Amino acid sequence: MLTRAQIRRLVADNGREVLEHPNMQRERANYQHGNVSTFAHSIRVACLAVWLADRAHLWGRVDLKSLVRAALLHDYFLYDWHDWDAGAHRLHGFTHGNAALCNALRDFRLNAIERDSISCHMFPMTPTPPSYVEGWLVTAADKLSATRETFSLDRFNRGKRPAGGAR
Ligand SMILES: [Fe+2]
Ligand SMILES: [Fe+2]
Repeated sequence: MLTRAQIRRLVADNGREVLEHPNMQRERANYQHGNVSTFAHSIRVACLAVWLADRAHLWGRVDLKSLVRAALLHDYFLYDWHDWDAGAHRLHGFTHGNAALCNALRDFRLNAIERDSISCHMFPMTPTPPSYVEGWLVTAADKLSATRETFSLDRFNRGKRPAGGAR
């Protein structure tokens, strides 16, 4: 069984190209749930997806690199959806999977697993389920992380963090 440190190392190694991209770094300034940046949320989802694959003994059926990259890019929509913008992000929950995919296709070469897992990660809110095991892991990890982040007491400390830092 992988340790937390091993999982973090796998995410850093397999996600290096994504994590170092300037647009991914911009996600440090966008908040996702509570006081958690989209950057930090994406890393949590990637770590949790790897943890789930490991604990469920799925390594015979899962491509680790595609899993990590899809998890890191699943919310690559590159805006703060809390910003008021005349309602353009009103349908955020339904549309951001495709927005993330469009941005990711512009910035990276993605395989079929990565593309499908990003665009379908909001299932069942959106109608199309993921086609790959990797996509189901990203979807499950995202739901688990979002629930924890939204209900964390930490969110009330948002004003106390140093500006621009990763959470
Ligand atoms: Fe999402
Ligand atoms: Fe997410």
